[in-house]
Amino acid sequence: MNIKAEESYVEPSRKGFVTNYPSFQYWKKSAVEEMLTEKPISVYVHIPFCIQRCAYCYYRTITLKGSERPEIDRYVDAVCREIEIAAKRFHLKDKHVVSIYFGGGTPTLLKEGHLSKIIECLHENLSIDDEHEFTVEAEPVTLTEKKADILKKFDVNRISLGIQSFCDEVVKLSGRKDTEKKALKAIEMAKATGAVVNIDLLSGLAGDTQETWADTIKRALSTNIESITVYKMELYANTAYSAGVRKKTLELPSDAQEIEFMRYAIEQFEQAQYFPWSSFTFTKMGHYVHTYPINMFRGNDYYGFGASAFGFLGDYGLLQNTNDLERYVAAVEANELPLSRGYQLTSLERMIRNVALEMKLVRLDLKEFQRKHGFKLDSLCASTIKQLELEGFISTSEKEIELTSKGILYGDYVGKRLTRCLMEMS
Ligand SMILES: C[S@@+](CC[C@H](N)C(=O)[O-])C[C@H]1O[C@@H](n2cnc3c(N)ncnc32)[C@H](O)[C@@H]1O
Ligand code: SF4
Repeated sequence: MNIKAEESYVEPSRKGFVTNYPSFQYWKKSAVEEMLTEKPISVYVHIPFCIQRCAYCYYRTITLKGSERPEIDRYVDAVCREIEIAAKRFHLKDKHVVSIYFGGGTPTLLKEGHLSKIIECLHENLSIDDEHEFTVEAEPVTLTEKKADILKKFDVNRISLGIQSFCDEVVKLSGRKDTEKKALKAIEMAKATGAVVNIDLLSGLAGDTQETWADTIKRALSTNIESITVYKMELYANTAYSAGVRKKTLELPSDAQEIEFMRYAIEQFEQAQYFPWSSFTFTKMGHYVHTYPINMFRGNDYYGFGASAFGFLGDYGLLQNTNDLERYVAAVEANELPLSRGYQLTSLERMIRNVALEMKLVRLDLKEFQRKHGFKLDSLCASTIKQLELEGFISTSEKEIELTSKGILYGDYVGKRLTRCLMEMS
């Protein structure tokens, strides 16, 4: 091959030295202002203790017996130490905390002294907005009058109660100590604190029938609370449910029945004017949105403190602590971060993560997607989007992709289809 013959003529020039990309003419003052704006962050604190192991639950938790309460003291000290170490290492004080979430496990097992220790430590080591959201998860039987007063004293403004079902038989079968009466009492106590109250329900529990489920939805709505979350009960291998199904001693509602439960719930919520702001949370008139998951699903920073907690820092990636409690405590007592794994995302993975998580929030802002990633999702996935629209899962406009009721019913399905479309590009 004659290489010379293929060379094109290039005029000799001393111009055109590439100093940077893009060239300076595109740099803007407004970009500096944006870079210097303190970034929001949410923080999660994991409390891995429960009074029982529920038959369906897959969370990493320890069932406490009365004599093991000193375990909590040691754990709380470790969490405080971790907050100090991580805040320094990741410069977390430079970000403003908009939302705090105590989850578990059962955070309402913490005593006043435990709560005040962690809260003080968060305030000392982070920059917490005056108007921050503060959520605490609670199991009804652990929410006493005294505990509710303590939550109020610490300005908890969102309480999330794990109700799961209002049918005593179904609850009993799941190994929990709650009853409908105790659940309703806990809801009243939570409401009396002045906090926004959410209740979690589980669709597809063992023992549930269309009748018991309809009754649960009716009772949930009659409490007149601000927010109702319905999770599809997922069967995990490490649960008593799973063992029961394997041994054929337990039968679960089929997937088709579960979808019917969900369909019924969405219909009833709509009639009662509880509208979804996520594919699993329905609130009065669509108000009372929960900042914590919204920030998380929009790809903002969040940091998880405590054993097994995980987070995301845009400058780093995804990070998770060890889920071994002994190792967790030993690491922080040795002044080390208890992180055990992480993941650095490529540009394509950031895009995929954006779609998979933001679709959980019912609508995805197409302009914002293009601003963040430089690509038009509606061009990249044009045929998948068209197909999803034809199948009735979404509606689209120039501005956004929105889940229809059918899209909400099928949970993460739309997010997964769009994810697959983007993955096929790599
Ligand atoms: C950490 S728990 C919340 C608070 C408290 N521990 C309780 O159970 O009352 C959070 C929620 O996870 C949900 N959950 C637990 N196991 C689940 C499963 N197998 N599938 C779907 N959701 C589950 C339950 O609805 C539960 O209320
Ligand atoms: S559902 Fe709640 S109380 Fe039950 S084991 Fe899971 S975290 Fe603990």
